[in-house]
Amino acid sequence: MLNYPLLDVAVRTPALELRGASDVLLDRLAHVVRQGLAAADPPPYDDPMSLYESDPDVRVEKWLQSIWRGRGRVSPDAWRLYFVVLLDGEPVGVQDLIGDRFADVGTVTTFSWLSSAVRRRGVGREVRQAILHLAFEGLGAKEASSDAFVDNAGSNGVSRALGYAENGTDWATRQGEPALLQRWRLTRDAWLTQRRDDIELDGVEAARRTLSL
Ligand SMILES: CC(C)(COP(=O)(O)OP(=O)(O)OC[C@H]1O[C@@H](n2cnc3c(N)ncnc32)[C@H](O)[C@@H]1OP(=O)(O)O)[C@@H](O)C(=O)NCCC(=O)NCCS
Repeated sequence: MLNYPLLDVAVRTPALELRGASDVLLDRLAHVVRQGLAAADPPPYDDPMSLYESDPDVRVEKWLQSIWRGRGRVSPDAWRLYFVVLLDGEPVGVQDLIGDRFADVGTVTTFSWLSSAVRRRGVGREVRQAILHLAFEGLGAKEASSDAFVDNAGSNGVSRALGYAENGTDWATRQGEPALLQRWRLTRDAWLTQRRDDIELDGVEAARRTLSL
């Protein structure tokens, strides 16, 4: 058990586990970032993004710094929970849960990447279901949103497969160039129709207190 509740949350499915992104777990995941395995083609991330750094050492440093900064900013209005994805006990990616004015509107957003070594075998879908379970079941979310560049087949594929509805488009830049984002929305009612009963949550009560929920 850790002394900081937001790092002590865990989500377990029969296939994988999400654990709070402690420094120990981030350190075990860093080799994936260093090897460039968080990258994808076409580029999936909007700017600014540490994972676009070409120098592997700088990439890992900036990636860690951005997580440390984000972990330290916690208010009822704005928080971000960082998880490492463990497959057979090995760190293979990240999944974040972002609350923006959550206390007022009940919407969460998600962000994730997986090592290219484990993509396209249903892991992304399982990871998203795990984080949605935490959001809706554990934190009482009313709605989940997601967005991805229109040419990001993986992320859009996960959202489509899990019953999100299209919610318009938006512009962002990636590596300095404008690109169109597809926005998605999953309501609590839509989630309830596919709610799983084989996902376990740990450490949620303490985390809710820390988030003032
Ligand atoms: C997005 C990501 C996490 C998805 O994980 P994944 O394990 O590859 O996805 P899954 O295997 O669970 O696939 C989910 C669905 O998308 C489809 N899909 C996934 N990758 C695809 C691709 N490259 N082309 C076409 N379809 C794809 C699958 O067929 C599947 O659909 P189905 O359930 O109807 O069969 C992963 O691709 C990734 O890490 N990408 C790079 C980072 C990224 O884009 N992050 C999101 C930034 S917004």
